[in-house]
Amino acid sequence: MTRRLFHLERDGVALLIAREGAALPHVLHWGGALGADIAPDAIAAALSRQTPPGTLDAAWQLSLSPQEGDGWSGRPGMQLRRRGIVHHPRWVVTADEASRERFTVEARDEASGLLLTVSIGIEAGGVVWVEQALAHQGTPEADAIDIDWFEASLPVPSTTDSLLTFDGRWAREKRPVVTAMPAGATVRQTRRGRPGHDSPIAAIASIGEPRWRSGELWGVHLAWSSDLTMRVDRVTDALTLIGAGELLRPGEIRLAPGEAYRAPRTAFVHSSEGLDGFAERVHTWLRARSQHPASPRPLVLNTWEAVYFDHDAARLTALAERAADVGIERFVLDDGWFLGRRDDSTSLGDWVVDQGVWPDGLAPLADRVHRLGMQFGLWFEPEMVSLDSDVARAHPDWLLHDAGHLDHDRSLSWRQQYVLDLANPAAYAHVLGQIDALVRELRIDFIKWDHNRDLVESVHAGRPGGHAQMSAVYALMRELKTRHPALEIESCSSGGARTDLGILEVADRVWASDSNDPVERQDIQRWTGLLLPPELVGAHVGPTTSHSSGRTTALSYRMATSLMGSAGFEWDILSCDADETAAITRFAALYKELRPVLHGGTVVHPEVRDPAWRITAFVGASAAVIVAATVASLEDARAERLRIPGLSGDRRYRVRVRREIGGPQYGWIAPEWFRDGEIELPGAVLAEVGLQLPTLWPLQAFVLHIEAL
Ligand code: GLA
Repeated sequence: MTRRLFHLERDGVALLIAREGAALPHVLHWGGALGADIAPDAIAAALSRQTPPGTLDAAWQLSLSPQEGDGWSGRPGMQLRRRGIVHHPRWVVTADEASRERFTVEARDEASGLLLTVSIGIEAGGVVWVEQALAHQGTPEADAIDIDWFEASLPVPSTTDSLLTFDGRWAREKRPVVTAMPAGATVRQTRRGRPGHDSPIAAIASIGEPRWRSGELWGVHLAWSSDLTMRVDRVTDALTLIGAGELLRPGEIRLAPGEAYRAPRTAFVHSSEGLDGFAERVHTWLRARSQHPASPRPLVLNTWEAVYFDHDAARLTALAERAADVGIERFVLDDGWFLGRRDDSTSLGDWVVDQGVWPDGLAPLADRVHRLGMQFGLWFEPEMVSLDSDVARAHPDWLLHDAGHLDHDRSLSWRQQYVLDLANPAAYAHVLGQIDALVRELRIDFIKWDHNRDLVESVHAGRPGGHAQMSAVYALMRELKTRHPALEIESCSSGGARTDLGILEVADRVWASDSNDPVERQDIQRWTGLLLPPELVGAHVGPTTSHSSGRTTALSYRMATSLMGSAGFEWDILSCDADETAAITRFAALYKELRPVLHGGTVVHPEVRDPAWRITAFVGASAAVIVAATVASLEDARAERLRIPGLSGDRRYRVRVRREIGGPQYGWIAPEWFRDGEIELPGAVLAEVGLQLPTLWPLQAFVLHIEAL
């Protein structure tokens, strides 16, 4: 039997993929780099499979899409059905193609007529992407094949004993959940038609509990913005696998001859430097994309928490003028501007300006905003429809719901709204036409694209409709951007319910949460940052008292937290007093000064002991910014030292406390450097010895600016 070994390597990550005869290939290694001389024959011998007692006689290796016939008792890589009965494919490899960074294989299953294509590439930052597709190439008379699931998986060492996933809820997204590695086949699924506030977002297996700065870990993420499955298989007579795929409902994908299904791309990320190493790989990959925002991320003013539905042309124009005065660069008019939309019970789907509230339309405001030198942004919720809307009255059949269910039972409403079936070409054309007209007329620079409900029991053309809906949404976003190349889109979904790498193929920013409470935000932004670099994560200064938690916090704390993302305000700044307005103006200048480092540097989380600290560093080539915040009372009376990783050991640095946002409150004796506000030290001293932190009060924050001399 012929045996071939393919070695892929890039940016510190290696893959070893083996082919034996005509069998589907198997992965022998996914992890750290191996260098040039890997002794392929010896590796094959070193890793050849034994036939353990009590298993299949044949020494099958675990293929790229493992199945029962491989002696695999975990979850199969795919489940197919033919005439309703499970179909076990017998893959015969027909072609492969390999380079240093990509391996592609094709295999055929004679009985079904299916062609399987799997392509594995190591892309920028060392992120491994798996792309796979199934194409029905049978004769026209051949049976259609149902795909129940089709997932990508890679092996991880059996020494991984800890699993990090996530859950959360509205206004409290991305709560990390660490468990011991479960035995057997475990799936985590979302059935919301969006990843959801409790989205697992990633599944990360590690040796020991995951830490920020150290430890080896392997994670998986699915670039898909709808229902999904994350899977971990620890089976005692095989390897441990992690993987992911789209969650399909029975009958949703049925391939007739000539049809194909392309699975969403799956990212696999290895790090030998803890969670920061994981994030750095994904950030590097995102930043290397051609569509990654190249212009400085503008300071935003969003009107939602300033006025909610209370639109008044004169007041909003005055707000825009004040925004320009303090240094805002993008003014975003949120919900409430379209036909009859005075509260959230009505009008979604009618993307026409409400003449009652805006008698002259939005052009005067948009023009004023542009003349003030700002970008103009507008809120839409394109996938949704209110029953009380012209569009729903005219086209009740455009809803993505079982019509019978709607007539008899209104229980499927959510925030009093329903979902528009965008896979219906007429509904798609309606939404595209209305949005396109406004983007053109108002010269809209930015769309806040909202999505405020789960999809339940979606039906399109008599079939489960989740896949078709998501595909149509991506196409709609793409079409708008093709027509308006400078247009930017923010993905918002009741806050951060849709922040995956799939949506970021077409969106330029995400809204992390409807909570602007900076205490909550410290953690929400930190964990959103595991995948997304700060320039892609909207972080706004909300009102003094948060509408989602009732908590009152200092302006300096709110501004320090906003500085950690794509910054902005979501507050009626017309109501601010002179001191607050001056602080906001200073903050705007500080954000603009520091954003090259904040949005281009490496995100680093120095290890600290006290659980009340949240310390985040943004480290560039010759400068760094650190935001240090407390989310509760410090446990230690004398705060610990902060050791700052990532700087050059042999350079000298000036460390300055940037007091533009206002000083934090702290214990009555603060370290000398902190009181003076400035100190110079070598990088090695900052990294190895550190700085004595001040004993901050709870819910306080300060900003350090570190510059190489
Ligand atoms: C959602 C969004 C908010 C805001 C409102 C408007 O809740 O997450 O930011 O846009 O809708 O209705």
